[in-house]
Amino acid sequence: MSSDTVTLRRPDDWHVHLRDGALLQAVLPFTARAFARAIIMPNLVPPVTSVAAAEAYRGRILAALPPGLDFTPLTTAYLTDDSDPAEIERGFRAGIFAAVKLYPAHATTNSAQGVTDIARTYRVLERMAALGMPLLVHGEVTDPDIDVFDREAVFIERVLAPLIRRLPQLKIVLEHITTKEAADFVAAAGETLAATVTAHHLLINRNALFAGGLRPHMYCLPVAKRETHRLALRRAATSGNAKFFLGTDTAPHPIADKERDCGCAGIFAAPAALEIYAQVFAEEKALDRFEAFASLNGPRFYGMPANERRITLARRPWRVPATVPTAAGPLRPFLAGEEIAWRLLP
Ligand code: NCD
Ligand code: ZN
Repeated sequence: MSSDTVTLRRPDDWHVHLRDGALLQAVLPFTARAFARAIIMPNLVPPVTSVAAAEAYRGRILAALPPGLDFTPLTTAYLTDDSDPAEIERGFRAGIFAAVKLYPAHATTNSAQGVTDIARTYRVLERMAALGMPLLVHGEVTDPDIDVFDREAVFIERVLAPLIRRLPQLKIVLEHITTKEAADFVAAAGETLAATVTAHHLLINRNALFAGGLRPHMYCLPVAKRETHRLALRRAATSGNAKFFLGTDTAPHPIADKERDCGCAGIFAAPAALEIYAQVFAEEKALDRFEAFASLNGPRFYGMPANERRITLARRPWRVPATVPTAAGPLRPFLAGEEIAWRLLP
């Protein structure tokens, strides 16, 4: 490995929104070009709550996969107040539910049927703990009295810490962490808690949302925080600590749904996410730890083997496309039109 190339086992993306229909068709190649496997978020409309729905969704993903791309979607269950422990266990044993996703009700895009009170899900969570099945957490409280920039830190205090005390054996991934509080909490917790970190949260702070005007394509949830938090995330991701791994939270919405009054939360990161991570690790002089973050820590936490094939990224500038066409209208990728220093070699 020179400072201009890095070769690693094929990475996986442990947090992806692939959507459905025309959007799925358009965005899937961007994830499948770079990642061997991905955890597929279940926040469709209606959400993926049953084994049958997840099986059908997986079938649609595989049908949309361009020939020649080797990609395995790991589908998940959307947790509701009414989720049935037996259905969750059946899906896990059948290899259809790789994990369960907890959205606090109304926390983010398509979370209206999410959990209103974690206590209502204890029977499911106890079953998952017994099975060794991971719970993936959107870690934000939804209380309108809590400042939007504090919602992750308050969630840790009010919901996550008590949950871990109650069910210490439950494997939990705190998804898309955005704060120093989250990075510190995860690092200090036991082996059963891990976290994903997005490429965009390693790159931007909240100033990016207001740079020269309102920037809807920089808006996602949890929203980017101030610079001290971004720096803490960079330290955590590049530290070599096995509790932190790659999850892009690529979350495409048509431009028309982003650029309007009450625009949707979600950043379409997939077109350049892997390359941005490589750039961040290069900037932090941590390319020797990139493979652990991108390709080893995630599978280890999920209890899956790492991928065997290798990929190489090189310092070879290219430009992110300005738009990506879809039958549901064009998408604007993260860093549209900008130059990226690193490139995945074919
Ligand atoms: C996601 C989406 O659009 O589905 N949006 C986002 O801002 N990240 C939902 C989520 O993961 O919060
Ligand atoms: Zn997400």
